[in-house]
This record gives sequence, structure tokens and C-alpha cells, in this order.
Amino acid sequence: MSARYDKLSVGSSVEWYTPPEIFDALRLTFDLDVCAPPGGLPWIPAERSFSRADDGLAQEWHGRVWMNPPYGLQIRPWMQKLARHGDGITLVHARTDTAWFREATAAATAICFIAGRVRFVRGATMSSKGPGSPVSNVLLAFGQTCAVALIEANLGPTLLIPGGLRPDGYDHPRKS
Ligand SMILES: C[S@@+](CC[C@H](N)C(=O)[O-])C[C@H]1O[C@@H](n2cnc3c(N)ncnc32)[C@H](O)[C@@H]1O
Repeated sequence: MSARYDKLSVGSSVEWYTPPEIFDALRLTFDLDVCAPPGGLPWIPAERSFSRADDGLAQEWHGRVWMNPPYGLQIRPWMQKLARHGDGITLVHARTDTAWFREATAAATAICFIAGRVRFVRGATMSSKGPGSPVSNVLLAFGQTCAVALIEANLGPTLLIPGGLRPDGYDHPRKS
């Protein structure tokens, strides 16, 4: 079941983009979109982006990170890197049965169970028309500023994860 699901998640589905309404609700700016199509996407409020050609996973990350990672079996190192980085928000499938999801939620500061279905923008048509994602999605915040933004975004039931708060108080101030 899981292997079949992960197989389905690989390939063309990588080019499914986060819709603008998510960023409108978050009201945050990001320093980096760590996995994006070449040149980034105009509605994603990130100063810089890394594409497959750059290999965002191999790059040094700085500041606040936005991450809608390539799904499937390759997701775990992306989640581990964001957890270590400690400042950012990621949009992922609610795969509560997986090791990567358990690890990520243990390191996160907040989780939002997005209400309804996310209407991803299809890379092939650049349209979000259609029935929406067939699976549930969550947003995970890392760092205190991102946790507050996630709560205030009101995109669905949102929980603070106290154990995820970094003991050294490391965080970047909100820019807007
Ligand atoms: C699910 S899409 C998300 C795009 C965008 N960041 C967003 O939030 O809508 C994942 C993107 O990561 C890109 N990608 C795949 N492997 C990558 C890599 N190693 N480094 C950077 N980007 C990569 C894909 O081409 C795709 O555009």
C-alpha cells in the first residue's frame, strides 16, 4: 500500500505548485524556496529559489525557508534538513504512518491540518481548476515566528508543538 502510494507520488506529480491563497493566509516572506521550478514561481514570496539543476538539498540554506518538497520516497532528507535548519514552513501530505512524518513533527513548532482540499496549481497547465488534492495535507512550522504565522493563518485546526520550540530561542524576526 505504502510503496504503491509512494510510486504514485513520484514523477509528474512533483510539478504541483502551492496555490497563492496559502501565502496570502500566512502573510510571511521567505528568504528561500528550496525546491522550485527554474526561476521560481511569481506568487511565492521568496527572495531566492533553488531548482532541480541547483539541487536545493545540497545547498546551504539561510533565513526563512519555504518548502513544498518533491513527494515520494525522496522526501525524508528534505524534511530532516528543514528540521535541522529550524526556520521555515513546509507543505506536505499528512502521512502520519511514515518515519519522515514522525521525525518532522517531533522537531516542528506547530502543525496545521489544512481544512478541505488544497487546490494545487498544475505545472502542466498552470491552473488550479479541478477537484483538489486527493489526499490530506498539513503545514508544519519550524521556529517560533513560523509557528505564530501558522496559527494566525487560520487555514485549519492548528496545534502548537511545545517540544519543537528551540531551546536556544533561535529565530528570525518577522519581516512584514
Ligand atoms: C511540489 S513542487 C513545489 C514547487 C514550489 N516550491 C511550490 O511551493 O509550489 C517541487 C519542486 O521541486 C523541484 N525539485 C525537484 N528536485 C529538486 C531538487 N533536488 N532541488 C531543487 N528543486 C527540486 C521540482 O522540479 C518542483 O518544481
